[in-house]
Amino acid sequence: MPVGVLISGSGTNLQALLDYCSKPGAAAKIVLVISNKPGVGGLTRAEAAGVPTRVIRHTEFGSREEFDLAIHSTLQAAGVQLVCCAGFMRILSPRFVQLWRGRLLNIHPSLLPLFPGLHVHRQALQAGVRVSGCSVHFIEEEVDAGAILVQRTVPVLAGDTEQQLEERIKTAEHVAYPEALHLVATGAVARGQDGRLLWQESH
Ligand code: GRF
Repeated sequence: MPVGVLISGSGTNLQALLDYCSKPGAAAKIVLVISNKPGVGGLTRAEAAGVPTRVIRHTEFGSREEFDLAIHSTLQAAGVQLVCCAGFMRILSPRFVQLWRGRLLNIHPSLLPLFPGLHVHRQALQAGVRVSGCSVHFIEEEVDAGAILVQRTVPVLAGDTEQQLEERIKTAEHVAYPEALHLVATGAVARGQDGRLLWQESH
């Protein structure tokens, strides 16, 4: 399945997806990486893997929807059928979500529905939870909502800094995202009409 990945930064999750796609028999192929920021590490990773890249700067558009529609037509022109947001730091407009619903995934560094939004690791440390993790989910109009495909947990250790927790969670993210991509790309699971997961019978 042809996949487009949206990024804004270092792209360690993109790397995990690229690594999954390079395995023999992988069900997905990354055909395009779009960044809203130039010069980020994720673009270098894509180039190193021989994947076409595009920079579409949100600052060059008058509205969120115009920016999103530029992304939409670029994805379409590349033949993308599934979009993975991987550290893409822009909120997608309802219009874009409607166009890609059920074919639009995100990874978030907490066990949703806990700690949506920003400063996620700070939220977890302030709440005093002893376990955190990551969630891969279908994107809906509401931020960090949507049916959860895969979650992985990590411990929160005494004295953890935000950075230590972030690094531990990223290790889990790099396992969870390829797992979720595999599930969707093989058709093992899809988003049902009611927004919940629809599993194929053998799962
Ligand atoms: C990850 O923690 C992801 O969950 C969040 O942004 C971060 C992106 O990291 N949405 P990277 O660019 O994949 O290294």
